[in-house]
Amino acid sequence: MSYAQGARCFHCLKQWPLSQIQYVCPECQGNVEIIYDYAQIAKVATREYFQKNTDFSIWRYEPLLPVQNQGTIPLQIGWTPLYPMRYYGAARLYIKDDGRNPSASFKDRASAIALLHAKAIGAQQMTGASTGNAGSSMACLAASVGMPLVIFVPEKAPQAKIAQLLIFGAEVILVKGTYDDAFNLCLEVSKKFGWYSRNTGYNPYTREGKKTCAYEISEQLHWQAPDWVLVSVGDGNIISGLWKGFKDLYQIGLISKLPKLGAIQSRQSNSIAKTIEHYHKTQKLEIQPVAATTIADSISVDIPRDGLAAAQAILESKGMPIEVDDTEILAAIAQTGKQWGIFGEPAGVTSIAGFNKMEEMHVFPKNATVVCVLTGNGLKDVASAIKTVGKPVCIEPSLSAVEKVVVKIK
Ligand SMILES: Cc1ncc(COP(=O)(O)O)c(C=O)c1O
Ligand SMILES: [Zn+2]
Repeated sequence: MSYAQGARCFHCLKQWPLSQIQYVCPECQGNVEIIYDYAQIAKVATREYFQKNTDFSIWRYEPLLPVQNQGTIPLQIGWTPLYPMRYYGAARLYIKDDGRNPSASFKDRASAIALLHAKAIGAQQMTGASTGNAGSSMACLAASVGMPLVIFVPEKAPQAKIAQLLIFGAEVILVKGTYDDAFNLCLEVSKKFGWYSRNTGYNPYTREGKKTCAYEISEQLHWQAPDWVLVSVGDGNIISGLWKGFKDLYQIGLISKLPKLGAIQSRQSNSIAKTIEHYHKTQKLEIQPVAATTIADSISVDIPRDGLAAAQAILESKGMPIEVDDTEILAAIAQTGKQWGIFGEPAGVTSIAGFNKMEEMHVFPKNATVVCVLTGNGLKDVASAIKTVGKPVCIEPSLSAVEKVVVKIK
């Protein structure tokens, strides 16, 4: 059974019964969040409950979710590894490798919940706009249950993500424009044809999937919240989901403190950082749009569609936004691969670039536990990866040719 009770608007704070919420607040069109009967959940979702639970996927957290899977989606989503790394400066670093999900990104957590909700309300056709990962994830999971899907992506999305979309059988529409253009077009289309939209931020169910990563991090750390969680930010839906997840666990008594959130952005797509800066100057939480140009395509966003929730999460957690250069993001791809054997896409390792910067700035107290969420696998964008490591040598197939190269390598 679901303990979801209603929804609350992030803007006007008005509460609504779930039956009145299709996507956004009916009164002010603001994004909404789903609220639960936490007193009832606390009775069920205890440490003993999780100790006995043998489902190692996001569905182990069913009492905290608005939908039930019960075998509908057969693919394994979530319970991705949390790797303990060694100390770096003051901090103990952990990497949460969410590239290990079925479509190789964090987005599967969100697509799963949106898909089950779509089925629960009898939707026959889904749609979504994406920088690439949300779409390929939606396509992967939709394929697993036979849900028809139309996805809008910018024409410049990395080839691997477009290949995934096509392989999973989605109807793919490339848009001559940015992610923001694709997003707006998809909203119009969804209204006109009545297709159920997964659009990030706009659809409140995506946040409900994203919060499961916070549950896993806490449980994998034996019901301790880390001191800091660092994640890359585009629309801001992942970071607002993580914050909700930690707050849920705090509210039902499974963790006793909340982490600080590090919102890591490319300097060339820094709307959230600018929004927080503007807030500190004016005390007004107003989204500051930018013209994004970062090579980290997944976080290249002009207007963050869950920006208000993201900014609130950063401020409430007493965390901070951090801007990194695209060169630092590219360097973090090679660093993460060489040091730890993990291959991340640019937006995936942006959290590592942020960690490097925060470590230099001495942000972390001694012995701080810091989790970097690696949100997408590097095979999704090999063109960017190759830029950081260059081309390998190419030789005639002879031993003497090898000897010449080996001498050079030595
Ligand atoms: C790999 C990856 N990292 C980070 C993000 C950023 O998530 P959000 O747009 O919710 O901030 C995305 C979103 O597309 C992504 O695909
Ligand atoms: Zn409202």
